[in-house]
Amino acid sequence: MKVLVFGSLNIDYVYKVKHFVQPGETLASDDMQIFCGGKGLNQSIAFCYTGIDTWHAGAVGRNDSDRLLRKLNEAGVHTELVQKTEFPTGHTMIQTTPEGENSIILYGGANQTITRENVDYVLSFFEKGDYLILQNEINQIPYIMERAHEIGMKIVLNPSPMNEKIFDMPLSYVDFFILNELEGMQLSGILEKEGSQILDALTKHFPNAQIVLTMGKEGAVYGYKEEKYYQPIYPVKTVDTTAAGDTFTGFFMGSIIRGKTVKDALDTAARAASIAVGRNGASASIPKLDEVEKDERWRKL
Ligand code: RIB
Repeated sequence: MKVLVFGSLNIDYVYKVKHFVQPGETLASDDMQIFCGGKGLNQSIAFCYTGIDTWHAGAVGRNDSDRLLRKLNEAGVHTELVQKTEFPTGHTMIQTTPEGENSIILYGGANQTITRENVDYVLSFFEKGDYLILQNEINQIPYIMERAHEIGMKIVLNPSPMNEKIFDMPLSYVDFFILNELEGMQLSGILEKEGSQILDALTKHFPNAQIVLTMGKEGAVYGYKEEKYYQPIYPVKTVDTTAAGDTFTGFFMGSIIRGKTVKDALDTAARAASIAVGRNGASASIPKLDEVEKDERWRKL
């Protein structure tokens, strides 16, 4: 069984600011760091760190591609299926505040140049029962889902960042949704802001999908048919929340694929995400599984 993450690869330019820049304001930042990121790349690394054989597909451009591919390779992710294009590599400009909040401008670049031929080529290496992990930072997702469904792959969707393109996707094919409250409200079409109500609406709307709703400091809830579990967060001083959601997704699904129970997978994902929140950067903040298991801070919880 193989895992394919078909998703974005970005260079993240991260600026520390006192507050998010306001309309008309020129704001100085005295700290800028460059990290490898993209929800796809981050999730590939998180999967690999849980011990899963992980393949990444997507597209990079004429600049910075070596850096991104090296980062994936160092983590153990297979990169043979990443396409090199003549377009600029995707990048982001991320502002982070002293409270650890972030605000992101995303330039898709090469991530938005995936062709149907490339999708067919990539999926020809996978078979029934393999897992496909998707976010919403590349083009061709409806086609990727159609083809993967025909093959019999299991589809995991993290519908982030949420936009109108999500509604063009064949969402009834999704086996696992991992999403936050805002995404959950928009997908289920309800206005309730309370986590368990959003989860109930989602499980009704997508009765065949397992759902994990992340709720920031309130933790996460899982729902599938009559089954429901709640997972609190492991408290930590917030340094930078970038990629915490990607870490959660990779560790939750990685644990499920390794045969752990849903309860165990939620617990491991919550621990890993807390470690990521306490560190700077996107992929740079993702812990390895042994770090998560050996972390003594929350032993008594
Ligand atoms: O989820 C975090 C990621 O979102 C960042 O690495 C950035 O590249 C954006 O895609």
